Amino acid sequence: MPTIPQHIAIVMDGNGRWAKQRFLPRVAGHKQGVDALRRCANACQARGVRVLTVFAFSSENWNRPSEEVSGLMELFVSALLREAPSLLAQGVRLCVVGDRAGLSPKVLAALVNAEALTAHNTSLVFNVCFNYGGRWDIAQAAARLAARGEPITELALDRALSLAHVPDPDLLIRTGGEMRISNFLLWQAAYAELYFSSKLWPDFDEAELDAAIADYSQRERRFGKTTEQLRMLPTGT
Ligand code: IPE
Ligand code: IPE
Ligand code: MG
Repeated sequence: MPTIPQHIAIVMDGNGRWAKQRFLPRVAGHKQGVDALRRCANACQARGVRVLTVFAFSSENWNRPSEEVSGLMELFVSALLREAPSLLAQGVRLCVVGDRAGLSPKVLAALVNAEALTAHNTSLVFNVCFNYGGRWDIAQAAARLAARGEPITELALDRALSLAHVPDPDLLIRTGGEMRISNFLLWQAAYAELYFSSKLWPDFDEAELDAAIADYSQRERRFGKTTEQLRMLPTGT
């Protein structure tokens, strides 16, 4: 039996290339991406994962062509409205994580409603990072502490970050073949196991999720210690 990570984080990348391969507009790839995400959340829940955190729109994605940005905003709103009732029925708690200051009233209303509807669920915490950046998160946490006159310690920062309601990710998956973090979970991924998949996000399926979990199961998480310490073997000293 594989070890199931408690918390899986995913950079869902490759929607644009998926669409381009099919001579479709990029937004068509993002639409397929929403379907892949629904399947992935269901599969995570079925496997006993407790927290799923996905990167849906980065602080830097505002720099994309305006029709793509507005398409992503519309897709986010429609997905929130459509999916909220089934999330509620399935026991999933939805949390939208990121800078809300830059979001339109329509987007804000949809996310606040979906969060409120599912707030009491406990089976799976589903964090959707939207207008999120790891640097923004660290800066906003530090600013909040400074405003309260609190010393900036690791623990205090940890508690002021936008993912303070969940443990750090155990497994961080990035699809689409790029091997970079792109400003995702800079603080929280300090000890995450990384898994890079060449599959484009719309093609990410249960088999690829299981491959990532199987790979994770083989890793030895040492957190700075030695193998001998982990296995409680004599170290020879
Ligand atoms: C990821 O897919 C989704 C978002 C960034 C919103 P991309 O749109 O980055 O897809 P590629 O990398 O261009 O294929
Ligand atoms: C990261 O993907 C952001 C999301 C998946 C939302 P990008 O496609 O924006 O990342 P870069 O630009 O290739 O680093
Ligand atoms: Mg990309």
